[in-house]
Amino acid sequence: MDPLVAAIDQGTSSTRFLVFNAKTAELMSHHQVEVNQSFPKEGWVEEDPKEIMQSVYECMERTCEKLRQLSIDISNIKAVGVTNQRETTLVWDRETGEPLYNAIVWLDLRTQSTVEGLINKAPGQNKNHLKHKTGLPISTYFSAVKLRWLIDNVDEVRQAVQDERAMFGTVDSWIIWNGGVHCTDVSNASRTMLFNIHSMDWDPELCRYFDVPMEILPKVRSSSEIYGWMKSSSLAGVPISGCLGDQSAALVGQMCFQEGQAKNTVEARCQLRYGTGCFLLRNTGTKPVMSNHGLLTTVAYKLGKDEPACYALEVWFRSHRRSGEKLAAAAGTSYGCYFVPAFSGLYAPYWEPSARGIICGLTQFTNRNHLAFAALEAVCFQTREILDAMNQDSGVPLTQLQVDGGMTSNRLLMQLQADILCIPVAMAAGAAEGVGVWNLSPSHLPHVTSEKYQPQINSDESEFRFARWKKAVQRSMNWET
Ligand code: G3P
Repeated sequence: MDPLVAAIDQGTSSTRFLVFNAKTAELMSHHQVEVNQSFPKEGWVEEDPKEIMQSVYECMERTCEKLRQLSIDISNIKAVGVTNQRETTLVWDRETGEPLYNAIVWLDLRTQSTVEGLINKAPGQNKNHLKHKTGLPISTYFSAVKLRWLIDNVDEVRQAVQDERAMFGTVDSWIIWNGGVHCTDVSNASRTMLFNIHSMDWDPELCRYFDVPMEILPKVRSSSEIYGWMKSSSLAGVPISGCLGDQSAALVGQMCFQEGQAKNTVEARCQLRYGTGCFLLRNTGTKPVMSNHGLLTTVAYKLGKDEPACYALEVWFRSHRRSGEKLAAAAGTSYGCYFVPAFSGLYAPYWEPSARGIICGLTQFTNRNHLAFAALEAVCFQTREILDAMNQDSGVPLTQLQVDGGMTSNRLLMQLQADILCIPVAMAAGAAEGVGVWNLSPSHLPHVTSEKYQPQINSDESEFRFARWKKAVQRSMNWET
């Protein structure tokens, strides 16, 4: 029997455990469990750390049961990797192991006023004041401000910090710590705002800036090495040997190892009421590229202690709520209608918070099918704008986009994406979640097949539609004037 490798994929809405054949990348078995979010106040999003761990164990045990039913010996599982929702912030007690508050989820906006205060105090009120070290703007998104909020507002956390009992971690650290080791990998660390993406370690100056004691931080390791061993489960004793933030894992799983390669993860988040979200990452090789278009610079991965780190330009954008493929397909066109889903402003590459959602080009013949089509097209136009910005920042035009995520089942969306980008869009089958557990180097990864969408309209038609979209964007920014 070929060796097997397993991945814990702890995402915002669910946890999965997946077991692959290490040689062929065939998915042997998996199990998925939903994870609840709570919304205690407007803009707050929390998860229960214990529920997160229970979901991990449940997924592991159920997957092992399924393997046994298939007469597959689970002792063939040689390694486990962790991939996870990033930035989500936890603090727990070193002595009791008890979480001291719920996990504050990456989407949480409770730190908005803290962030505004920090930006106001920054030289020139520049939100990019720390970007030269972190690659990131000061924002509610990253862990440092969430951790600051926990220390300032939760008595148990403050007390534990004073007593030197507190441990901070993102979800990867929480999971691995339950195996006995307090660590994180460079991809997760680079999303905290406490990590220096050049020196590849926690930065004392950043920690002072956010007033975070360095003793509570996990040790930073590469994305591929043995961190510890599984405990108290059917897989006790199996090494935990890979760790990557989930967007980095997708980049690796999509084999985007070459400088210039990019992937887009398109998800519909019905449960979180956040509509469609896209995470677009582009590998920039071993040098961090600082964007002139407000894109984030992040550590993509470091595949071994002695390997160099690779960086990526990244952007996350939110689009419309999930829209019907059938309706859009029935129309086959937007009939000249353009929909800009700037419900809470425009993000990259515009960064215009006062922009608002707008629909242009309505006629008496426009029906809901056309609108559904325009909504799908909007995701593609937004992706094109970001890829154009990435092309400019990195100086290399993209020749193919890799895609994954739930929305890739929408074939019309994939075709439209190829049409609007004027380059092929490829969907890798499987293996994206299995990364971090192969002894990672590009040559060790099993080959994965991919389904490809070629552009089917000519570039003039594509440019015409894109130019119209840009006009609609201008209107969404100036709709009050
Ligand atoms: O940055 C947040 C991201 O890592 C969340 O990923 O998989 O929960 O959508 P996911």
